[in-house]
Amino acid sequence: MRKPIIAGNWKMHKTPMEAAEFTKEFAQMVSQTEGVEIVLCPPFTDLHTVINTAHGTNIVVGAQNVYWEDQGAFTGEVSAPMLKEIGCKYVIIGHSERRQYFGETDETVNKKVNAVLQHGMTPIICVGETLEERDAGSTEQVVSTQTKAALEGLSSEVVAELIIAYEPIWAIGTGKTASAEDAQNVIAHIRSVVKEIAGGSADSIRIQYGGSVKPNNAAELMSQPDIDGALVGGASLKPDSFAGIVKESAAG
Ligand code: 13P
Repeated sequence: MRKPIIAGNWKMHKTPMEAAEFTKEFAQMVSQTEGVEIVLCPPFTDLHTVINTAHGTNIVVGAQNVYWEDQGAFTGEVSAPMLKEIGCKYVIIGHSERRQYFGETDETVNKKVNAVLQHGMTPIICVGETLEERDAGSTEQVVSTQTKAALEGLSSEVVAELIIAYEPIWAIGTGKTASAEDAQNVIAHIRSVVKEIAGGSADSIRIQYGGSVKPNNAAELMSQPDIDGALVGGASLKPDSFAGIVKESAAG
């Protein structure tokens, strides 16, 4: 049985004070919720505060990005050992906004995945197609290429522990959600690609859906057989809406 994992990607939102306030309020709302893993992914500057505030609760913390070298002359970058030492458990890698605005490629995604694994954290690897790619009928091919590149060189035991997030780019921040059926179909395809690479580990790997997930559509998405959680942007910024999503997912 794969335990659903609901992660809030705050993107570039919230100062440390706002982050602490959110975390206190949210932790109370979800303190009784079981059967679902709950992750907050704030900006780097909030990580310390959120990790401390979430200590002793059922919430764990992830970062939104990382650099693949451990240390060195890389001004402005943050490394995996730094994130590990302050208590991060997860790191989002290859979000479409990073691919689009910050030049990330399938190759850099693979390097970052390796760095995160080497330091005992779990990558949340994002894949997804643009609207043009979807309209051209190439969704499956796009997510398959991205998935294969991200997992290149990894052993099947390691693959079993990873998280993949399927985020159709046209559904991010637009209010347009993939239908539960569409999301299920693409995610089942991603699982079949993982099966080609890593055999039985494909049955263990958790694959999230992301893109305009809200409290009122979470349950239907989560009830799909291959959807194991959500990566939530906008609706993770308010304690009540994010708690709503977490509770709907635990119930499903
Ligand atoms: P929204 O939930 O705001 O559509 O964002 C999804 C996302 O990009 C999460 O990583």
